[in-house]
Amino acid sequence: MSHDTPHDLGAMRPRRFLPSGPLRGRIRVPGDKSISHRSLMFGALAVGETRVTGLLEGEDVMATAAALRAMGATIEREDDEWRIHGVGVGALLQPQAPLDMGNSGTSTRLLMGLVASHPITAQFVGDASLSRRPMGRVTEPLSRMGAEFDGTTLPLTERGLCPAIPFEYRLPVASAQVKSAVLLAGLNTAGVTSVIEPVPTRDHTERMLKGFGANLWVEEVNGERVIRLRGEAELKPQQIEVPGDPSSAAFFAVAALVVPGSELTIENVGLNPTRAGLFEVLRQMGGHIEELNRREVGGEPVADLLVRHSPLTGIEVDPAAAPGMIDEFPILFVAASMAQGTTTTSCLDELRVKESDRLAAMAAALTGSGARVQERKDGLVIEGTGGEPLRGGANSRTKTHLDHRIAMSMAVAGLASRDGVEVDDTRPIATSFPAFEALLDGLAE
Ligand code: S3P
Repeated sequence: MSHDTPHDLGAMRPRRFLPSGPLRGRIRVPGDKSISHRSLMFGALAVGETRVTGLLEGEDVMATAAALRAMGATIEREDDEWRIHGVGVGALLQPQAPLDMGNSGTSTRLLMGLVASHPITAQFVGDASLSRRPMGRVTEPLSRMGAEFDGTTLPLTERGLCPAIPFEYRLPVASAQVKSAVLLAGLNTAGVTSVIEPVPTRDHTERMLKGFGANLWVEEVNGERVIRLRGEAELKPQQIEVPGDPSSAAFFAVAALVVPGSELTIENVGLNPTRAGLFEVLRQMGGHIEELNRREVGGEPVADLLVRHSPLTGIEVDPAAAPGMIDEFPILFVAASMAQGTTTTSCLDELRVKESDRLAAMAAALTGSGARVQERKDGLVIEGTGGEPLRGGANSRTKTHLDHRIAMSMAVAGLASRDGVEVDDTRPIATSFPAFEALLDGLAE
């Protein structure tokens, strides 16, 4: 049984995304989703006032804010700034109602980490998509620290343990969410909690916790990254400027590459090396993507991306690149479907447990729009059109399966199609990028 959230209520919102003229000008994408979640969580654990600008105001991040309020933090928006009054590590309060995580895996898994070492019990509920996603990957290590769970999928109840037991955990899957859940549990755990990361994943938790004053350090042991955190931590409030989300910029970058005549500048895009893999792969395919005005924002490398329409060539994507672009495969598949030649991807089993099974969803959506796609167990093989638009048309009805990135990827496919692409439900876009359609419509006019 899944809990009703805005996604489950009311009618689906279908839309046909029509072929577009050149995309030109300058745009800005919203704040980074991963950094926004963490700004709220760490602010809620610091004693004093944390101020955040550029916070992503999507449904996922708002689910995190609501849960933290339910556990005692004060989180308010004043003009363009978010102000968070934290309770201090160890002082989260017992929530009085189930925590509604909506569609957000990041909120769920990271908050489960926080609750694990607090003397509180919390029930987590979510929408139909989230209720299908595996939580065993966090309940297993957090149980070893002493927390108790009554299941491995939502809805589930977690009972934290204080004091919890510090331990060393080797990640069995390349997941920043699992890494972060264990480290966040370690914040209120006396002693050293360690995570061994055989394959590096996004490192926002490490960067930001250090910025908040936690005693966290990273070692290299036998070629593996080991992150160690000494608890109990005392976090100091921070002033944070959230850079633009590279995962949101990705849709516009590919749109500009595939729509003839386009030249688009996307300002203020976060280019943390653990996140920027897509732009490198697109360059390898022949995409013109220039980084202008490289600078630092909020401790993260940032640049403005100048993207020009380019003929793309299919490639074999190096599996080692996957963690650095894990959310960008749906939009890469769209680019590949219009490239010259074959694009092969592999080792992408993780895509089957995202907001939807993204391999199956994109194979079906692109095939319905006229692309030539072969679905394999761990990746897609795509035979591109050689620069011709996708057919699109009446048979192209994309099933989004409550997955924002499927909806936005196929919207971009529609811009570069002959007859437009139907998306069955645009509502999930609001989880990560509420202004997506307005921005797109503004450019495509
Ligand atoms: C995220 C980690 C990734 C990513 C998600 C955000 C994070 O998930 O897909 O959108 O903020 O830590 P996994 O840890 O499941 O790979």
